[in-house]
Amino acid sequence: MQKVKKAIIPAAGLGTRFLPATKAMPKEMLPIIDKPTIQYIVEEAVESGIEDIIIVTGKGKRAIEDHFDHAFELESNLEMKGKLKLLEEVQRTSKVDIHYIRQKEPKGLGHAVWCARRFIGQEPFAVLLGDDIVRAETPCLKQMITQYEAVSSAILGVQPVPDGETGRYGIVAPASQNGRLYEVAGLVEKPPAGQAPSNLAILGRYILPPEIFGILDSQEEGSGGEIQLTDAIARLALEQQVYAYNFQGTRYDVGEKLGFILTTLDFAVANPELRGATLKAIQELLVKEGAAPEIFLRDLRARDVSDWSSRSTG
Ligand code: UTP
Repeated sequence: MQKVKKAIIPAAGLGTRFLPATKAMPKEMLPIIDKPTIQYIVEEAVESGIEDIIIVTGKGKRAIEDHFDHAFELESNLEMKGKLKLLEEVQRTSKVDIHYIRQKEPKGLGHAVWCARRFIGQEPFAVLLGDDIVRAETPCLKQMITQYEAVSSAILGVQPVPDGETGRYGIVAPASQNGRLYEVAGLVEKPPAGQAPSNLAILGRYILPPEIFGILDSQEEGSGGEIQLTDAIARLALEQQVYAYNFQGTRYDVGEKLGFILTTLDFAVANPELRGATLKAIQELLVKEGAAPEIFLRDLRARDVSDWSSRSTG
């Protein structure tokens, strides 16, 4: 069995849901607290044992290449000022060996993956989307690689989503289940309401065999007029076994506005430096907006608000 050593990170989409912010700045560079979303993804790949990463970029994506490059002026300035912790953070991003390829037109995720075919060659590989950050004890991709090592077949990272949200995702039709692992009978990209074969949504993590490139060669446009990776995997599933793995961890959807805000809030609450002040601000906002539940207000009246943040950080 060949090991999974290479990963593709497609980052050539237009990011229309974040316009005008994404007119000149890639969506993948939008920060969650102080780190661009794509850095969380790169870190997950590295922590999962990936040795080579290729980022598929498009027009206006230079900032991604600059972010993972050395910044000599900035680094010597930080060193001169003795800001060594920040220097270490900045240098960490330039230590990973990253390759780039351009998708000349944003024709869809399937096409973006196909653009990296020569870099991958004849090996199994991972795909990680920047829209989905996963916080987990064992990195999400690492969990999937462990599964891959047991079954040597394509694996899609999935989690159940609420009924009303299946139309936003590629959805898996499971044939059988063994713990968190499912045999896949079929796949549908963004099924219309009421027609989803299950609630298991593909959430931005894939391990695929190189045969997918031959299928993508002839893949026609699908949902949204784009060449869909889900459609190509559905064809792959007719030729070889495909699995879905319900990975452990919290998954954050940073590809749309509300998801981005909630992710930022959750990460702020989990950050020891920001936790107290963030929780206090949320509490004050709830009271100001008249949205605080009565039970919470009663508790609030009974104590001093200014004392609250220090207690909540423990
Ligand atoms: P999305 O559909 O979420 O990204 O694709 P988008 O098209 O940039 O966003 P909206 O819908 O216009 O707001 C998921 C991932 O696939 C990449 C995107 O960059 C994103 O990381 N992608 C998408 C490509 O690389 N090329 C494409 O043609 C489409």
